[in-house]
Amino acid sequence: MSTITAAITAVGAYVPDFVLSNEVLEQMVDTNDEWITTRTGIKERRLLKESGKGTSFLAIKAAQNLLEKNNIDPLEIDLIIMATATPDMPVASTGVYVASQIGAVNAFAFDLSAACSSFLYGMSTAAAYIQSGSYKKVMLSGADKMSSIIDYTDRATCIIFGDGAGAVLFEPNTEGLGLQDEFLRSDGIGREYLKIDAGGSILPASKDTVENGQHFVFQDGKTVFKYAVSGMADVSEKIMQRNNLTHDDINWLVAHQANRRIIDATAQRMGLDESKVLINIQRYGNTTSATLPLLLSDFEHQLKKGDNLIFAAFGGGFTWGAIYLKWAYNKQ
Ligand code: UT7
Repeated sequence: MSTITAAITAVGAYVPDFVLSNEVLEQMVDTNDEWITTRTGIKERRLLKESGKGTSFLAIKAAQNLLEKNNIDPLEIDLIIMATATPDMPVASTGVYVASQIGAVNAFAFDLSAACSSFLYGMSTAAAYIQSGSYKKVMLSGADKMSSIIDYTDRATCIIFGDGAGAVLFEPNTEGLGLQDEFLRSDGIGREYLKIDAGGSILPASKDTVENGQHFVFQDGKTVFKYAVSGMADVSEKIMQRNNLTHDDINWLVAHQANRRIIDATAQRMGLDESKVLINIQRYGNTTSATLPLLLSDFEHQLKKGDNLIFAAFGGGFTWGAIYLKWAYNKQ
């Protein structure tokens, strides 16, 4: 009997219509387009402005896009993993609501949270369910409404993040395509440098926490940047070495879109030509759990069956890692 591998067989995505450009940010905080572009690579990001709509709204749209584009019956889905750092609410799983809303009533669902590495860790989890042999169609959704936790008077964070969603379908493959290897890491040292202080069990919401702005993302950008550059490059190099891959063997780097300079440093360490590096940070900023599936969606037509993809991410916690995956289809 041939070994089962877990392949990505379909992709979907959604970003809200509202565009927040660098030029508009210049009117909101003390910043400028030149600084943002050279330091991050970001030109604009999308925001979900309608009140009463949360991360599930984005995730449902992305899931529906995947189902419709590929003519997939939601009743066939066995499991939905919802990768997110901004669930609709602290209790009551966002993934469960998404599953019901898209008609995946035969699926069970849960949320997975690992800051900007949520989707990468989710790929590992989804693949493990497929490789177990018990599940045939696993949808991995990555969605974040980052605008719900960003202080738009803080220039250190508001220029970076955006809202968006993507989804992929994992299915069993017997041709050896799909996930080949993974190297996932975490280190609690990162907790101080990228966090939301209040609203959790240590510091529940109160009048004071709201007045002190403690429900917004705090980031010590310089420190996170330092760890991200070495962390993402280290794991990408490691996964190449242990799979005997040279830069010639790799077709695409699919890296978390947090900062163009972090992505370039990773590509450089891997010896990759710029043409192999998927980039869309200029259009969406850092959408946290959505960056990797948004890349797959934007570049789906360029990915060819058998291509070697290296996924890499770094995020709060700290959490980071790399995944080696062989692409499984050609999009017509
Ligand atoms: O996805 C999760 C993981 N997160 C990341 O990977 C993000 C990692 N960090 C970064 O991407 C970068 O650190 C930032 C983009 C957040 C900041 O870039 P930086 O090159 O590290 O800037 P910095 O914080 O060292 O600040 C440099 C200067 C400072 O001024 P002085 O002290 O040199 O006079 C800042 O006050 O730039 C100033 N500055 C700004 N200027 C204009 C900081 N933010 C801004 C701004 N506009 N928005």
